[in-house]
Amino acid sequence: TGLDALIKAKGKKYVGFCADPGTLSNTQNQNIIKAEGGQVTPENSMKWESIEPSQNNYNWGNADSLVNFAQTNGKMIRGHTFVWYSQLPQWVSNINNKATLTSVIQSHVNTVMTRYKGKIYAWDVANEVFNDDGSRRSSVFSNVFGDWTFLDVAFNAARAADPNAKLCLNDYNLDYSSAKLTNFVQLVKDLKNRGVPVDCVGTQSHLIVGNSAIPSYKNTLDSLATTNTEVQITELDIRTSSSPSSSQISQQSTDYKNVVCGCMKTSACAGITIWGVSDKDSWIPSVFSGQGYALLWDANFNKKSAYTGFVSGI
Ligand code: XIL
Repeated sequence: TGLDALIKAKGKKYVGFCADPGTLSNTQNQNIIKAEGGQVTPENSMKWESIEPSQNNYNWGNADSLVNFAQTNGKMIRGHTFVWYSQLPQWVSNINNKATLTSVIQSHVNTVMTRYKGKIYAWDVANEVFNDDGSRRSSVFSNVFGDWTFLDVAFNAARAADPNAKLCLNDYNLDYSSAKLTNFVQLVKDLKNRGVPVDCVGTQSHLIVGNSAIPSYKNTLDSLATTNTEVQITELDIRTSSSPSSSQISQQSTDYKNVVCGCMKTSACAGITIWGVSDKDSWIPSVFSGQGYALLWDANFNKKSAYTGFVSGI
C-alpha cells in the first residue's frame, strides 16, 4: 500500500513529494512521505538563491539534510533547479557579459552536481524558459545570450558533472497553452538534434479543478513523448477555492484520477511528483489569492477524496 508502492506495481518509477527540512520537521509530513512516497524534490533548498546566495559561497545545510533524509529512507531525489529566472540571486542577475555568465553557470552546475553525484535521479537543469505565448522568456540568461544557447552551456555542464543523472527541461502550463507546448517540444527536439544532452521533460502540472486542460491531459503527455525523452509530472497540484463546494471536491477527485490515468496510459511517463503533502503547507494560497485545497491531504493531514481519485487512476 501507499501511492509509491501502488504505482511501482504497475511499472512506473515513483510517486514523490516536494519536501525540505522545514516541512520534514513536522512528523506528520515525514511519516506520510515515508509511507506513500518513493522520491523527494527539494521545494526550495537547491534553488540558486538558497544554495549559492553570493558567488562561491555555498549554503549546503538544508539541501544536505534533504538528501540525507532521502538516502536514509531509500527515496529517489529529483534535483531542482539550476537555470531559472526566479529565486535567482541578484549577483547572477547583474551579470552582463556572456563569457562571465557561461563560467558562472558552469561553475554552479558543476559544484552542486558534484556534491550530490550519484544520488540524484534527475535534475531540472532549466526551468520555465518559455512565456505562455510560446516565446522565449526574458531572463538574465536569455538576455545575455540572445538565443537558446544558455541551455547548451547548462546541459553540457550537467552531463559532465554527473553522467548518470537524467537531465530535464521543466515548465508549467504545457497542459494549458498549445503554443507553449508546441514550442517547448520543438526546442527539446532542436537541442537533441545539435547534441545537447536532454534526457527528460518535466511538466509541472499546477492545474485548476474543472479546467478543460484536464480531460485532454493525456494528449499533452503524448505530445511531450514525441521528444523521445522520459516524461515526468514534476509539481502536480490541482487547486480550487480555499473553501470548496462539495461539487468542487468531487470534481477534484475526478481530475486527479484523470491526470494519473494519463500517466499510466503513456509509456514514456515515468513518475509523478506532488507539490506538497497537505494543504497546510501548499504554496498555492500565498500566490493565488482565495485558492487552495490543492493537495491529497487536508490541513489536518486527513486523506481527501482527491487521494481516492489518485489511487483509482493508478
Ligand atoms: C515554489 C515553492 O513551493 C514555494 O515555497 C516558493 O515560495 C516559491 O516556489 N514552479 C516551480 C517551483 O518550479 O519551484 C515553485 O515552488 C512553484 C512553481
